[in-house]
Amino acid sequence: MIINNIHLKSFRNHADRSFTFAPGLNLICGENGVGKTNILEAIHLIATSKSHRGAREREMIEYNKPCSGVALKYFAQERDQTLSVTLEHNAKRHFCHNNVAIKRTSDLLGLLNIVIFTPDDLQLIKGLPGLRRRFLDLTICQAKPKYFSALSSYNRVVYQKNELLKREADSDTLEIWNEQLADYGATVAEYRRDFLRYLAAITADKFSEVVNHKLSLRYINNYTDDAKINNPTSIAKASLEPRDKESVKQDILSAINRHAKKERRYKMSIIGVHRDDFSFAMDNKPAKAFCSQGQQRTIVICTKLATVMWLDMCAKDKPILLLDDVFSELDDNRQHYILQNIEGMQTIVTSTTDNIVKEYAKCIYI
Ligand SMILES: Nc1ncnc2c1ncn2[C@@H]1O[C@H](COP(=O)(O)OP(=O)(O)OP(=O)(O)O)[C@@H](O)[C@H]1O
Ligand SMILES: [Mg+2]
Repeated sequence: MIINNIHLKSFRNHADRSFTFAPGLNLICGENGVGKTNILEAIHLIATSKSHRGAREREMIEYNKPCSGVALKYFAQERDQTLSVTLEHNAKRHFCHNNVAIKRTSDLLGLLNIVIFTPDDLQLIKGLPGLRRRFLDLTICQAKPKYFSALSSYNRVVYQKNELLKREADSDTLEIWNEQLADYGATVAEYRRDFLRYLAAITADKFSEVVNHKLSLRYINNYTDDAKINNPTSIAKASLEPRDKESVKQDILSAINRHAKKERRYKMSIIGVHRDDFSFAMDNKPAKAFCSQGQQRTIVICTKLATVMWLDMCAKDKPILLLDDVFSELDDNRQHYILQNIEGMQTIVTSTTDNIVKEYAKCIYI
């Protein structure tokens, strides 16, 4: 996939500007606060329906303007295409693909696949589980429409179940919702496990090319039996190997039953894939506690590169890589490592200086 051009109208500090990109490496260069990240945010919004900063309309629409628009020309599936979005205060976002309105988010996801890497991504190692789930969901949704549909249904069921728990509903009513929660949950878990199995293998390979240590990944969930939860090695094996959906569903149902009292007490659904997580370990020690900042950053780079490869494999069209302000933070070795790995893929890098990848990149000064 290649973005040819983006036009921003009243989007953040860009009143009316167009930027044209080259197929390979692009460097958006400018001082702090000129609006470099805003351009990546607009691309992220149009590709995934959401800002990577979690921003709402009032933050993205230019101050004192009623609405905002982003239009993008891109090349995918061997033809030129367009995508656009309009934002208005207190209204739904309107997306169009090739000038036809998109009615459901599921029809948007996958049209333009992206992987973004920002300085905040160190939180993938250090931060709360919700961030890692967001990364999983965003990635898998772009390549697997059925995942998006199972996840949306799952979230709806969790919401309903929480409402019932708040109203202290009887067990028979809850049972119907638990059955659905386990059913959709098992589908979500299956997709996550498949993606994480790939991620674990490729990330470890890539990591060993840069750092002389062994990296491993654990898929963490709260419905595999308690013995496994207390034994991290067996959880890694048990949860990353492909599993029969029905057996996962039974695991979720029995964990819900085991923790039914707790859920009633907290009036909240506790067991299920909405609490899933994953973690990295270097030489079997948790990366969060034992890795240096630089090693953590390397894990994130390898994770992002593996994600790019996974999307490429699933969607049969290379995704676009967005690197916000991370290149200049890397030493020469790591910069070259990334450059080797992104050959043939459109990459858009932002930086305050042009002395990094200038000789390889199309420079866009703003
Ligand atoms: N809704 C908005 N309307 C107008 N300007 C906005 C809006 N939201 C943010 N800005 C402006 O956008 C600028 C920040 O843009 P952005 O984060 O893209 O900068 P940047 O070039 O990435 O900077 P840095 O190098 O520091 O990361 C700020 O000057 C901010 O005031
Ligand atoms: Mg920025």
